[in-house]
Amino acid sequence: MLKNIAAAIMFLFSQSLLSETGQRPDDKSVAEGKTLYGQYCQSCHKERGVGEKPIPPLLKAPGYLTAMPLNETSHAWHHSDEQLVETILNGLQRTQRMPAWKGTLTERQARQIVAYIKSLWSDRILGCQGPRHMSCM
Ligand code: HEC
Repeated sequence: MLKNIAAAIMFLFSQSLLSETGQRPDDKSVAEGKTLYGQYCQSCHKERGVGEKPIPPLLKAPGYLTAMPLNETSHAWHHSDEQLVETILNGLQRTQRMPAWKGTLTERQARQIVAYIKSLWSDRILGCQGPRHMSCM
């Protein structure tokens, strides 16, 4: 009985460690997320999330979107962990270039990638993540 309670507490603890808006993620999730990021995201969002270089308007096909940075120079941090996970799993309406990763990645893996992305942000930006970003500008 006690063992079960301990297991349940450990489970809840590990879940909350994995990802919480505005909180620094744990090192293990970051490391696992980094590997996944390298495998699935880096080809577009680039090493350490710096994103693709903007294409000069004259050369850009209409409607073509470059992959924005996921580090703190763009607005990935305006989104909560939940919203980021949702974007990763379901993709974006506005462009086919950002695919839905559901079926390729589990929700847990998406959360690990979010942990990695958050590890690229400073404490100040992390503290302003999600719904709080408006009052932090
Ligand atoms: C084939 C290129 C490509 C790959 C691979 C890719 N993305 Fe994207 N991603 C994009 C594009 C393009 C956008 C939309 C840019 C825009 O709206 O201006 C985008 C948008 C996003 C956004 C929305 C950010 C925001 O601020 O609204 C997130 C989050 C994101 N990608 C995460 C990921 C993650 C995590 C992976 C890996 C699992 C990934 N992407 C793989 C191209 C890609």
